[in-house]
Amino acid sequence: MKSFFQVAVLSVTSSLLLFTGCIPHAPASSALDAGPVSRDVHSFSRPDEVAIEHLSLDLGVDFDRKVLDGRASMRINNRTGASELVLDTRDLEIRSVTLGADNRPTRFALGDEVPPNYGRPLTIQITPDTELVNIEYSTSPGAAAIQWLDAEQTADGRHPFLLTQSQAILARTWIPLQDTPTVRFTYDATVKVPTGLMAVMSAENPTEKNASGVYRFRMPQAIPSYLMALAVGDLAFRAWDSRTGVYAEPSVIERAAWEFADTPKMMTAAEKLYGPYRWGRYDLLVLPPSFPFGGMENPRLTFATPTILAGDRSLVALVAHELAHSWSGNLVTNATWEDFWLNEGFTTYITQRIMEEVYGREYSEMLAVLSIQDLQDQVSALGANSADTHLFLDLAGRDPDEGMTDIAYEKGHHFLRMIEENVGRERFDAFLRGYFDRYAFRSITTAEFLAYLDRELLAGDPALKARLRIDDWVFGPGIPANVPKPQSPAFSEVDAQLARFVGGAAPSSLDTEGWTTHEWLHFIRNLPSPLSQERMAALDSAFKFTESGNAEILGIWFEQAIKNNYSAAYPAMERFLTSMGRRKFLTPLYSAMVKTPEGKKLALDIYRKARPGYHSVSRQTIDGIVGWPG
Ligand code: BES
Ligand code: ZN
Repeated sequence: MKSFFQVAVLSVTSSLLLFTGCIPHAPASSALDAGPVSRDVHSFSRPDEVAIEHLSLDLGVDFDRKVLDGRASMRINNRTGASELVLDTRDLEIRSVTLGADNRPTRFALGDEVPPNYGRPLTIQITPDTELVNIEYSTSPGAAAIQWLDAEQTADGRHPFLLTQSQAILARTWIPLQDTPTVRFTYDATVKVPTGLMAVMSAENPTEKNASGVYRFRMPQAIPSYLMALAVGDLAFRAWDSRTGVYAEPSVIERAAWEFADTPKMMTAAEKLYGPYRWGRYDLLVLPPSFPFGGMENPRLTFATPTILAGDRSLVALVAHELAHSWSGNLVTNATWEDFWLNEGFTTYITQRIMEEVYGREYSEMLAVLSIQDLQDQVSALGANSADTHLFLDLAGRDPDEGMTDIAYEKGHHFLRMIEENVGRERFDAFLRGYFDRYAFRSITTAEFLAYLDRELLAGDPALKARLRIDDWVFGPGIPANVPKPQSPAFSEVDAQLARFVGGAAPSSLDTEGWTTHEWLHFIRNLPSPLSQERMAALDSAFKFTESGNAEILGIWFEQAIKNNYSAAYPAMERFLTSMGRRKFLTPLYSAMVKTPEGKKLALDIYRKARPGYHSVSRQTIDGIVGWPG
C-alpha cells in the first residue's frame, strides 16, 4: 500500500517538472527514510525540507455563497535550501501565490487529485532565502471541513452558523497548509463576518460581539493543522472563573453554564496529576446539534455537541476527555495518524483519572466497565485477528478516519492502565508527568514513546518488561490476556436485576431505586436478546426509555428497539436521527437498521430526510452504511 502513495508523490513531482523545466530532487520518501522525521502517508508535504512556522489568515466569511475567501500567508523555515514548498489542498481555488512582504510573483502548480480523500498537492517555487509565502484563495461550498447551517438548524433559529472540523485531514479543505500533525505552527487571523455574529477560533477569543464584524485572533502556542478551528454564529459567553468559561447560542448559554460547571474542578484535578495547563484559557463552545462529534479538543476552545446537555451533568466525562487532550494530543501529539492511539488512548486513560479525582472511584469504575465492553464490542466488530485492532496502525492509502475506532481509545486506555497496575500508580503518574514535560509541544511516533517507556520506566527490570507484553498490545491483534479487569459494585447490583429480568420478573418489579445514567446504560446494553414486543413494551412503560431526555440512553435503547423490531419506538428514533448529527449515535443505529430488508427501507426513509442536516463527516460514514444514493 505504501508504494501507492509514493507513486502519487512521484507524479506530483513530474507534473511540476512539465512546466518549470527544472530537475526535481529525489522523491520525498527516500530523503525521509534516511532521516529521523517520520513519514506521514496522509500528507504531500515534506516538512524535513521546509516547515511552516507561522500562519497569518485574512478571511471573509460569505454565508450567501458559502465560501471563505482571502489570504493565507506563511512564514517558513527552509531547512535544506529547497526550491519547492509542497502544501496540502483539497477543493481549494488558488488565485495567486507570491513570495515575501513585497508580494513577488512565483510559479505554482496543483497536482492531480489523490484518492481516497488526500486532495491535491500545491507545489510552490521558492528559493533558499524565501521566508514568506502568500496565497490568495477561496474554499468551495462543499468543503468537507465546513458546515454552513441555515438559521433553522440552530437552537435560536434566527441566524446562520458556520463550524469547522479539521481532524484528521480536513484542514486542507479550508486552508492551504502542511496538513500533518508532524508540523506545528503559531497563527494569527483576521476574520470578517456579517454583523450580528461572532467568530471564535482555537486561539485567544473575543467574549462579545462587535459592530464591525471584524475579529482578530492570536494563537501564540504552536499547534498542528488538525487543531485549526473556526465557528461563526450568534454566541453568548459565561465565565466560571478567571480562565474557564462557555460559549453557546443565547438560548442555550444558561443550561450549558450549569451543565459544565465542574470544568474548573476538572482543570484542578488534571493539573494536580499532569502539571500546569499550558494554553492560557480553557473554554467550551456548545455547537448546534449537527456537530459530527461529541467533542473536539480545539486548543483553548473545545467544540462540543449539545447532546451532552442532559440536564443532570451525567455526561460530563466528555468535558474531562477534551480537557485531557490539553496534555495528551495537543501538548504531546501523534506524529502521524498511524500513531493515533498516542492521542486517544492516553486521553481516555487520563479522562478516567480526572473523573476519579472529581467524582470518586465508584463512578469512574462504572465508566471503566462500560469502556472495556466498548473494547470487546469493537474487537468483535473488526475481527479478533484484524490488523486494525493493533494499536499502531497501517493506514497508507486509506482515509485515516478508518483507523479512528475504539481500538485507539479503549485498547490504548487499558494498555496504560495495565502498565499502571504493574508498576504502581505513584511511579506511573511520575512517569507520565515527565513524559508530558519531555515532549511538550512536540509530535512523536509510537517508536519514540516505546523507547521512552523503556528508558524511563522499564530499564533494568526484564521481568517487569516481560509481564507487560508490550509488543502484543502495540503490534498484535485483539485483547491481550493481561488486560485489566475493572470491577464496579454498582454494576453488580444492576447485573442482579438483569438476572431477575431474564428469569421472568416484570420490569416494574425490579429494584432500580437511585440508578444513575451509567447504571441504566449498563442495564439496557446488557438486556437479553431477542426480546418480545411485550417485554420491550413492558420495559418502556416501566422506565420510559423512548421518552428519555438523555441522548446516550436514547442511542442505546433505539439500538435494542431495532434489534427486537420494537416499532413503537421508531417515531421517536426518527426524531432523534433527524435532530442531531453526532456520528457516534448515527452509526450504530443505521448499521443496525440495514441488517434486514424492512430495516434498510426505514434507514433510507429516515436518511433521506436527515442527510441534508448532517455534516460531511457524518454523511460520508452513513452514505457507506446505507449504500447512498439508495
Ligand atoms: N479528537 C476526537 C474527535 C475526533 C477523532 C475527530 C478523530 C476526528 C477524528 C475527540 O477528542 C473525541 O474523542 N471525541 C469523542 C468523545 C469522547 C468522550 C470519546 C466523541 O466525539 O465522541
Ligand atoms: Zn479524544
